[in-house]
Amino acid sequence: MNPVTPAVADTAPHGDAVAVAAERRWAIVVGIITVCLVAMMVLTGLHWAAMPPSRVETINVKTVHIEGEFVESNLGTAVGADGKVTVRLIAQQYSFQPPCIVVPAETPVTFRGTSTDAIHGFVVGTTNANTMLIPGFVATFTTTFHKPGEHLMPCHEYCGTGHEAMWARVQVLPPAEFRAKARVGERLNCVPR
Ligand code: CUA
Repeated sequence: MNPVTPAVADTAPHGDAVAVAAERRWAIVVGIITVCLVAMMVLTGLHWAAMPPSRVETINVKTVHIEGEFVESNLGTAVGADGKVTVRLIAQQYSFQPPCIVVPAETPVTFRGTSTDAIHGFVVGTTNANTMLIPGFVATFTTTFHKPGEHLMPCHEYCGTGHEAMWARVQVLPPAEFRAKARVGERLNCVPR
């Protein structure tokens, strides 16, 4: 008889069994990962859908310019008595007010902004400072700039024919230099270059 036949007959089922076991292990691993990801999506989706989004702030777009925190004299960078740094800005077709923003490095900075006309938005350079600005709502977030330097801050929501020319600058100063310029109660900005 053929001496190979028994050997093949012996190993073939064994090889199949190894392959099937390996495939099954991988299928289980992939299945667990998939179930985890779907569970995360479902749970976070239900979690956020079951409650109103937090900290939604509205503002009267008709009076934004003449009363409240977004009047022109209050725009720019403010340092509170507690040392907290807040930047207030307004977006309108097709500029930001103030057009040049000064912030300290290595310090939490809270941005508060709104729009007076269309939907705008901004991103500060390649940092994670990024938001939409929607008429009637106050957008707010807190971020920390780790390195001094200057960033472009373009509008990133298409807002009309001047959209591509709508941008501001953000100067990130070393903390000591910023503190030397900042006065509690005053609003700080810079001259755009
Ligand atoms: Cu403002 Cu695009």
